[in-house]
Amino acid sequence: MPVYPAQQHQALRTTEAHLLPFHKPNYTFIVIRMKAEDVKHITVLGAGLMGHGITQSFAQAGFPVTMVDIKDEFVQKGLENIKWSLGKFLEKGRLSQADHDAILNRITVSTDRDAAIKETDLIVEAIPEILSLKQEVFADIEAKSPKHTILATNTSSLPITDVAATTKHPEKVVGMHFFSPVVRMNIVEIIKGEKTSDEVAKVIYALTERMGKEPVMCNKDVPGFIANGIQMFPLNFVGQLIDMGKFTPEEIDSATTLKLGLPMGTFGLLDFVGIDVVYNVLKFMTTRIPGMKMAKCLEEKVQKGELGAKTGKGFYVHPGNRWQRPTIWSQELADKFDPQLVVVVGINRAAELVADNVASPADIDKTMKLGFNQPVGTLELADSLGLDAVVEKLEFVAKEYNDFYKPHPLLKKMVKDGKLGMKAKQGFFKY
Ligand SMILES: NC(=O)c1ccc[n+]([C@@H]2O[C@H](COP(=O)([O-])OP(=O)(O)OC[C@H]3O[C@@H](n4cnc5c(N)ncnc54)[C@H](O)[C@@H]3O)[C@@H](O)[C@H]2O)c1
Repeated sequence: MPVYPAQQHQALRTTEAHLLPFHKPNYTFIVIRMKAEDVKHITVLGAGLMGHGITQSFAQAGFPVTMVDIKDEFVQKGLENIKWSLGKFLEKGRLSQADHDAILNRITVSTDRDAAIKETDLIVEAIPEILSLKQEVFADIEAKSPKHTILATNTSSLPITDVAATTKHPEKVVGMHFFSPVVRMNIVEIIKGEKTSDEVAKVIYALTERMGKEPVMCNKDVPGFIANGIQMFPLNFVGQLIDMGKFTPEEIDSATTLKLGLPMGTFGLLDFVGIDVVYNVLKFMTTRIPGMKMAKCLEEKVQKGELGAKTGKGFYVHPGNRWQRPTIWSQELADKFDPQLVVVVGINRAAELVADNVASPADIDKTMKLGFNQPVGTLELADSLGLDAVVEKLEFVAKEYNDFYKPHPLLKKMVKDGKLGMKAKQGFFKY
């Protein structure tokens, strides 16, 4: 199998010294005493949309990277994409010729996975979202890479715990969830599976900082992690309102665009992202979150193949398969819907993540701002609306539409304790 050594790996240090076996009756726990600075070589599995972006980002940050795929044409395509992107930086004067060349020199591409991982400190997997495939690959790469090597997955919806289930040392497996397009999106969710060690999560957190990106720590392996875990709630909720025949997409979107300032509204956003993409993430979430049910209209759109802009039709029509802002949105339609109902559903889920120690309020807001271009974080918004008003709206939603959205006990407790948000100088944050 061909290997394309753009540059030989830099000399790899021995990292055995960093391993501290920890004996339990039938099990040797691997405690990785590694620092982000000890990561000298990285292997990325998959040269597709995410894999090539992850490879480029590591190389831009100074790391030698080997990008692996199953066929030569795939690695070459990934490399072409990287060259195109770096060429744009060069053209715009954001990169010197010397830096451009140095970045490319740090990238090696290969179809020989065994050779690529033989001496590597970190493997980041970005192969298709199929659990059995990832499990098979993780068992294999664990067996064939050095003991100290950290195994990260870029999965967007599979539990890290499940991806790690075929490994002997799940404490070395961690979620490292990049956003697309990777080179431009700075946020990275670091997710701990049930058995991920703190040391491993900390190394990956610090490494992400060394990449010049913004890590957030997701302490528990919850469905959708932080970003999707919050964002999917309002998207599913608006779908359920359509199912109930209470409102139309045009009314909801007129309100969310004209009154809330969301550039694409909610159904417009679904059409832009791809209804199938949201449906697939929601499918995982609805099987794992008790009481959460998929909006039927999303399922129907997927069955009909009306997936949004990419198929020319979703909730709206998009001529030439290019997303187009519907002309029907109007103030008159906007007046038929209170867009804060959508907002409070997202806040409720964010409060649940805080209550369950999944993430800190600061990390939640950082994720939502950087991940979705929100001008204000979800919890800062809650504080500015007033938590008493948030609870009141959620009680209305639960009574009128769906009991699933009743206010989380944390929100009720905060109101009881007088932590009402900005007006009380204390809510999720201090003012
Ligand atoms: N697309 C997104 O916006 C996005 C965002 C965040 C996370 N993710 C996750 O990242 C992962 C990859 O997604 P993508 O959009 O880059 O997919 P993709 O289809 O563009 O790329 C996947 C690549 O993996 C390769 N591959 C398959 N089996 C392999 C193996 N055994 N070893 C090495 N390479 C192999 C494929 O040939 C393909 O080139 C998925 O888990 C996805 O859920 C995707």
